[in-house]
Amino acid sequence: MSRPGPKSFAIKSYGCQMNVYDGQRMGELLEAQGLTSAEVDQKPDLIILNTCHIREKAAEKVYSDVGRIMKNAEGDKPLIAVAGCVAQAEGAEIGVRAPAVDIIVGPQSYHRLPELIGEASAGRQALDTDMPAQSKFGSLPDRRRRSPTAFLTVQEGCDKFCTYCVVPYTRGAEVSRPWAAIIDEAKALVDAGACEITLLGQNVNAWAGTDQKGIEQGLDGLIRALDRLSGLERIRYTTSHPNDMTDGLIAAHGEVAKLMPFLHLPVQSGSDAILKAMNRSHDGTSYERIIDRVRAVRPDIAISGDFIVGFPGESDADFTATMRLIERVRYAQAFSFKYSPRPGTPAATMDEQIPMAVMDERLQQLQALLNTQQQAFNEASIGIATSALIERDGKHPGQRIGKSPWLQSVVIETDAIPGTLLNVRIVSAGPNSLGGEPTQNIERRHVA
Ligand code: SAH
Ligand code: SF4
Ligand code: F3S
Repeated sequence: MSRPGPKSFAIKSYGCQMNVYDGQRMGELLEAQGLTSAEVDQKPDLIILNTCHIREKAAEKVYSDVGRIMKNAEGDKPLIAVAGCVAQAEGAEIGVRAPAVDIIVGPQSYHRLPELIGEASAGRQALDTDMPAQSKFGSLPDRRRRSPTAFLTVQEGCDKFCTYCVVPYTRGAEVSRPWAAIIDEAKALVDAGACEITLLGQNVNAWAGTDQKGIEQGLDGLIRALDRLSGLERIRYTTSHPNDMTDGLIAAHGEVAKLMPFLHLPVQSGSDAILKAMNRSHDGTSYERIIDRVRAVRPDIAISGDFIVGFPGESDADFTATMRLIERVRYAQAFSFKYSPRPGTPAATMDEQIPMAVMDERLQQLQALLNTQQQAFNEASIGIATSALIERDGKHPGQRIGKSPWLQSVVIETDAIPGTLLNVRIVSAGPNSLGGEPTQNIERRHVA
């Protein structure tokens, strides 16, 4: 059945920051086509579910969401699009399991949304999960999002093939965006009001390219170029892989004033046997050496990580090795997950899958330790004079929430507007946020 083209849309993004970024770019593309942005509960004509396939729970969410949309629609069904990594991994299967879905579009082909919407409006289910050689970025409109903080994808895909992970299949091979495209996008974001840019990639530190003079550069070169952009105050990057932590990138942490003292460097496990079975191609010692080297140039750096408990074959001793590594590294924050077998990955068919009860117990122990470390890191901030980038209103009138250089949320009594880089003194610390007071003319804590 054909229908008029949609006039309004809503996008719901799940998963990693790269999906958030893709969601923003899809939104900008649809706005450039004349559609207006809405919330899901405002019953827009088109709903895009921008999905994540990393763990089973995340992947299954799309089907319950489609069910909920249909229930709320009361006969007036919107166009439903499934984008992101579930679209890439499951493709046409989605349409079989959820016939209400009109459009299935992978993460490398969403620049084709306008045509796909046209097809779907004409009554045909539209599918595009190609990974074209021509990058989607060239076909997307310029950035126009106005916000004090912005994401900028510089690298996509992964060639590492960790044995548990779907990303190399859903996002394809590692590709770096060209230098000039990144610098131009950064300038557009700063012109639109961004004070902070977070460079994104599934393995962001594998970024490689040539600068405007034709000189080969790595992520550190890009960071140094962005450091020279006036108006930009803060630079972050995520997610990095231990094997791509180059000498240059480590040095940048000690030398580039705008590069924030925060490093998200997942290790997954502290057991060398498990790291080997995961095909991580680094061991616990080499990981800790990188942390030591970054701390040598930037002693106050906040370290963050990802952990998986219950990978096939993980013994009590393997788990204890992970706990010991965490104790030595001292994390400022971290994400931890129970292993989830993913279809098509080598680990899914390995012997010795770990019972759920054991995974639950291990995850609880690990998270208790990480929470203690996060609290300790936050408490050590009390008394420090630093800056907070104001992002939004707080819970109570007169409060604003900003971010410290170490990515902690800071609650401040102030009327400073979002985008203000405020001098503050940290006066209190909770498990998930700090309290700060504005100060005048204090010296900011900066790179030693
Ligand atoms: N490229 C990044 C992270 C990608 S996915 C890296 O290599 O560090 C984000 C996190 O999800 C991973 O770091 C891992 O901790 C977790 N993860 C990935 N696959 C998983 C699986 N099958 N089960 C449980 N957690 C998983
Ligand atoms: Fe997945 Fe490993 Fe690639 Fe990270 S490095 S995206 S965990 S395969
Ligand atoms: Fe999920 Fe895809 Fe990101 S699987 S974590 S949305 S790359």
